[in-house]
Amino acid sequence: MKILGISGSQRKNKKSGVYKLVKTVLENTGCEYELISLRGKKINGCTACLGCVKHNVCKVHDDMEPLREKILAADAYVIGAPNFFSTLNATTHAFLERWYQFRHQTAETQWGKLAVSVGVGGASGAPAAKPIGMFMMYNFIETVAAVTGQGAACCYSCGYGETCDVGAIRMTHGPDFKITGENTPCVTKQPEVMQAAADAGKLLGKRLTTGHDRAKVTQKVQKQMSELFRSST
Ligand SMILES: Cc1cc2nc3c(=O)[nH]c(=O)nc-3n(C[C@H](O)[C@H](O)[C@H](O)COP(=O)(O)O)c2cc1C
Repeated sequence: MKILGISGSQRKNKKSGVYKLVKTVLENTGCEYELISLRGKKINGCTACLGCVKHNVCKVHDDMEPLREKILAADAYVIGAPNFFSTLNATTHAFLERWYQFRHQTAETQWGKLAVSVGVGGASGAPAAKPIGMFMMYNFIETVAAVTGQGAACCYSCGYGETCDVGAIRMTHGPDFKITGENTPCVTKQPEVMQAAADAGKLLGKRLTTGHDRAKVTQKVQKQMSELFRSST
């Protein structure tokens, strides 16, 4: 069983809460895994050219191309993104849009696989994790757990955080707040979040290694998907 981890943060790995949480989930699966950061990669969004509809291969040439085989070879995914403006960031969105190439006709390459979603935000990670779950659902992949945590908003390191009237620091803590290393948020300082990441990893590993039936998972997610579509029309 092989798991592909994706960190959609553009921050350096040692500074990224997303990277740390995705890594923690992966380390706890007990399965073989590969962790790829999208930092610095040039990945365009889907252009709706429909070049992929015949053979399920995207015709856009960029850094997504070498990832295609890794995505197909994985049995499960741990996908994390930072919260940008109450949704997932553009890098991760573009990456996941390009999974459109796997969805045509009878292509069943992704159906019934498993995933864990990860979201990190200056206030909340949930607005990033939730749409990742939707992207997975579109590919008939079951998201077995969502892990969310608080990271450091850029205002903690931009140099103007204590005085900026529109930044996160003043909005959250008021005008007299002094930034220190101790009060700068990091997922590793949130034991309940690290525990949730470890638990999600263990659950994913267990689900994968104890009779994972892709056909059954596919049926389950297809049912959820059609219920969601019917209730929203
Ligand atoms: C352009 C931009 C927009 C952001 N918007 C939000 C937001 O709407 N809500 C929030 O909670 N955090 C927001 N943040 C803060 C990030 O989610 C936060 O810095 C997080 O720690 C990033 O994860 P990372 O450290 O893995 O990159 C924003 C950050 C940037 C750069």
